[in-house]
Amino acid sequence: MMPPQGSVFAGEVDFIYMALFWLSVVLFWGITGPALYFAWRYRYKPGRVTPHQTHNTVLEIVWTVLPLVLCVGIFFWGLSSWMKSQVAPGEAMEIQVTAKQWLWTFEYPDGSRTVNDVHVPVNKAVRFVMTSDDVLHDFFVPDMRVKADIVPGRYTQVWFTPTVLGLHTVTCAEYCGKGHSDMQAKLTVESEDKYKEWIATGGTEWMNYTPEDWGKIQREEKGCATCHSIDGTKGQGPSWKGIYGKMEKLNDGKTVLVDDAYIRESMMFPQAKIVLGFDPIMPTFQGLLHEQDIRGLTAYIKSLK
Ligand code: CUA
Repeated sequence: MMPPQGSVFAGEVDFIYMALFWLSVVLFWGITGPALYFAWRYRYKPGRVTPHQTHNTVLEIVWTVLPLVLCVGIFFWGLSSWMKSQVAPGEAMEIQVTAKQWLWTFEYPDGSRTVNDVHVPVNKAVRFVMTSDDVLHDFFVPDMRVKADIVPGRYTQVWFTPTVLGLHTVTCAEYCGKGHSDMQAKLTVESEDKYKEWIATGGTEWMNYTPEDWGKIQREEKGCATCHSIDGTKGQGPSWKGIYGKMEKLNDGKTVLVDDAYIRESMMFPQAKIVLGFDPIMPTFQGLLHEQDIRGLTAYIKSLK
């Protein structure tokens, strides 16, 4: 009836859920059963007269106080568990989540970013701080028993401690347009070592692409696209179209050949050589790009004739 329990408090959530479910079953039949029985037992018969009814103080006190105690008890039981699910431990690792139509981006403490793919180490608390670029979304990980709305212009958060290695699904649980049902991400829970390796190398997803295609993806993922156009229009930075192999004038009067070395230097030390007519505003991507990303971006820039 429930998805697998993938986090520390999944068991507690399920326990409350099942307790409430069975309590409802008992109360439903406890009330409906006698009601049906009485309807039958005291049905109309010619000549039978209903005796005069007053009230029964003991009975009325019992059926008022008992449900009251029950409801208050359930409230505090739920509240204490809910507080646990809301307040992450201080040492929790923090992952920034940005939802937009219709994908998820994740940003790690070291600045690495991924799209629709999130990795976390097993048995470590992790906190997701979430916001939206456009409309309402909802971060739902059934296996972890967490679910929270993501609201544009506001930060919401969830946290959990994953306990089960392997693949889990993140899905959007708030209707957000035609791509809503496709808005899913893979959550990989792995050992601490594997996680560190993944963070350091960026994983092996790039192997499924040509360097050029991988570069194209990186341009979007790493945010190059905000400043560097690919159609020749001038942005905050020079357009990439036709730039490879060109002699570029710099703001100190020198010129430089745009080759692999210059492209690499511009990513790592963007202030070293500023193209004439542009401001030195590009941040360094040292530590944010893996070797395959740099190769991919260079190949992609080369392809933009
Ligand atoms: Cu995003 Cu539904």
